[in-house]
Amino acid sequence: MNKEINILNSNRNDITDAESLRQLEFIEKARDYVSDKEKELGRKLTACVVTFGCQMNARDSEKLLAILRLVGYEESESENADFVIYNTCTVRDNADQRVYGRLGACSNFKKKNPHMKIALCGCMMQEQTVIEKIKKSYRFVDLIFGTHNIYKFAELLCTCLESDRMIIDIWKETDKIVEDLPVLRKYPFKSGVNIMFGCNNFCTYCIVPYVRGRERSRSPRDIVRECEKLVADGVKEVMLLGQNVNSYGLDFKDDDPNKISFPELLEEVCKVEGLERIRFMTPHPKDFSDELLDVIERNPKIARHIHLPLQSGSTEILRRMNRKYTKDSYLALVDKIRTKLPDVAITTDIIVGFPGETPADVDETIDVVEKASFDNAFTFIYSKRTGTPAAGFPDQVPEEEVKENFDRLLKVVQETARKQSEKLTGVTEKVLVESVNEQDSSLVTGRLSNNTLVHFPGDESLIGEMVDVKLANCHGFYFTGERV
Ligand code: SAH
Ligand code: SF4
Ligand code: F3S
Repeated sequence: MNKEINILNSNRNDITDAESLRQLEFIEKARDYVSDKEKELGRKLTACVVTFGCQMNARDSEKLLAILRLVGYEESESENADFVIYNTCTVRDNADQRVYGRLGACSNFKKKNPHMKIALCGCMMQEQTVIEKIKKSYRFVDLIFGTHNIYKFAELLCTCLESDRMIIDIWKETDKIVEDLPVLRKYPFKSGVNIMFGCNNFCTYCIVPYVRGRERSRSPRDIVRECEKLVADGVKEVMLLGQNVNSYGLDFKDDDPNKISFPELLEEVCKVEGLERIRFMTPHPKDFSDELLDVIERNPKIARHIHLPLQSGSTEILRRMNRKYTKDSYLALVDKIRTKLPDVAITTDIIVGFPGETPADVDETIDVVEKASFDNAFTFIYSKRTGTPAAGFPDQVPEEEVKENFDRLLKVVQETARKQSEKLTGVTEKVLVESVNEQDSSLVTGRLSNNTLVHFPGDESLIGEMVDVKLANCHGFYFTGERV
């Protein structure tokens, strides 16, 4: 665990500079409060950050934790802490339900610790119905804010520490990107890097555009500078993050010198010396350009892994999902990738049970899984999200039928994934070691460029190292191997 708190400096000279300085002042202020409380209680205060959802939320949580640490809290893995914050996700209903469950359990800790503060932030908080429900049934929550004003966390924390009332601050939208906030990385050797925020695609099932707002790209200079800073701080691998990375830069005006495309940005990031591996998540199939393939081909630093969400293999369902590609155009893209970059692993996301989906539509999806030979796929059961167009579509599929289709699909997904993995048996590959194996401490666990997991004999000293490993045995989704 990297205990350094890292303030990313830049020479940007716009309003966001002033904003980050303002937030640093609030950190000072909150620090006084926490230190007074420590004296009063005769012990250190603890804070716990619980994260749900995607890589963007994980990255946001690293910012929340940095501020909590700077303010003087000690990090706690347990929610039996003095400050607990849930960074929520609302992409599917089960994510919401998990938050409510955890909140209920957390209220029991609060009954025993009157100094405890409970906070909620993230995507779920951008929904009016959620706020109503918390105001009504979860009165013990102290602070609620959303996705657009997370940069104000230090300020909101001050307000919350000074008040006994429930503080709620939710913004509908923002056009601001505040740079230079503190970050405390979970892993010393790898890091997410936001390249853009929000989404403009409005897939009909998806709530993300409503809770994350419109697309806003960070300037290439800020992104490259962040990568350089990270490398200086020991990072070997970055993952460039955005809901649709291919639309990076499209929101800049045509005469803006910052205006570059995603492939151009990738090339710039490849030039950062000392950076060994670059990942990106997520590209949208509708915008996947030949130029992007060329850049990947030319730059061995770019990971041999493309996550290419399919969602459905039925052209009619794709149309109703507003995905803007067809079964055939998706397969043609996969073909192009496989021909040009034979060592790339392609993974995907699939939704089962979209309104009106028939078993024949699922057959189409299964056909794509087989033809594309996905290296892995995340399969999700459709979840109706209030406010999205699909929530009002007719023919919601009965649960039983969804379950049957889901199982049918999963079986094929697992078969293709195993077949793809097996191809690497006996090959020697570079592995970035991530951790000591949880089950067997004589082993370490790392990832290949194509994202496959491998376990092999080694110790803690290897964490963060890039080593050559022979992939001796395939176990479905992962390998066991040996260092060479
Ligand atoms: N921006 C990314 C992914 C965002 S959400 C993209 O477009 O690919 C991650 C995944 O959650 C999606 O790819 C989709 O498969 C799934 N998902 C989104 N909304 C969903 C819903 N309402 N029900 C079930 N799965 C959903
Ligand atoms: Fe959701 Fe579609 Fe945007 Fe992905 S591209 S975040 S699925 S609306
Ligand atoms: Fe969830 Fe928000 Fe990410 S809804 S998937 S945490 S953008």
